[in-house]
Formats: sequence, structure tokens, C-alpha cells
Amino acid sequence: MGVLLICFSIFFVNHHDNNKYIIETLELNGSAEEGDALFKINCVGCHGITARGLVGPDLHSITQRLSDKEIIKQVTGGLTPPMPSFEIDSVNMSNLLKYLHSLE
Ligand code: HEC
Repeated sequence: MGVLLICFSIFFVNHHDNNKYIIETLELNGSAEEGDALFKINCVGCHGITARGLVGPDLHSITQRLSDKEIIKQVTGGLTPPMPSFEIDSVNMSNLLKYLHSLE
């Protein structure tokens, strides 16, 4: 529950579909370690500490099911409540993507 509260306070709400943002993010080569840290702060409340799923689905092999662009939209779009949309800059988004790619 504590984790959930933190996650809602950090970068919450409304990064709507923004191509420049997506292109910028895809050009970066993120850090899986940084992404892991971000994930632990913002995502584990729903996806579980090892991303094996809880309220939200297991995210292992998610990068085989969704393109990076689709993942960016999932995280920033708020299209599938109860998952919130996250206001996350492109560097951090790229870190998160790198982390998700590191899951098998
Ligand atoms: C409040 C709970 C909650 C939080 C916090 C949350 N998610 Fe989710 N997430 C969900 C739920 C529920 C779904 C399933 C939505 C659906 O498919 O209808 C989901 C779906 C996803 C999917 C798509 C999974 C698939 O199989 O299509 C990805 C990727 C994802 N979340 C990543 C993240 C990341 C990264 C974070 C942290 C930045 C995060 N989520 C934070 C609840 C959450």
C-alpha cells in the first residue's frame, strides 16, 4: 500500500500520445538498473516486486508481445484503468524500457 501511495505521488497523470516524446525515448539507450529502481518505486504495487504480476499482469516477455512504442503508450496513456498514466520523462521511460527488456 505504501508503494502505491508513492507511485501515485511521483509522476502521475497525462502524458498523452506525443510523437516527439516517443521518438526521443526510442533514440535513447536507457539503463536497466535505473529502470529497475523506477519500477520498484512505481510499478511493483500492481505488477509485483519481480514483475510476476499481482493486480496487473506478469510483465516477463512483455517486450515480445508489445513493441516499445506500445509499451510507452501503455505507461503514459492511462488507457487501461486501473493502471494510471505516468508523467515520465523520456530518459526515465527509456530506462524502464531497458528494464522490461531485461526480464525474460
Ligand atoms: C494501479 C495499478 C498499476 C500500476 C501502479 C501500474 N500498472 Fe501496469 N497494468 C495494470 C493493470 C491492471 C494492467 C492490465 C490492463 C489491461 O490490460 O486492461 C496493466 C498493464 C500493463 C502493461 C501491459 C501488459 C500487457 O500484457 O499487455 C504494461 C507494459 C504495464 N502495465 C507496465 C507498467 C509499468 C512500467 C508501470 C510503472 C511505471 C505500471 N505498469 C504501473 C496496473 C498497474
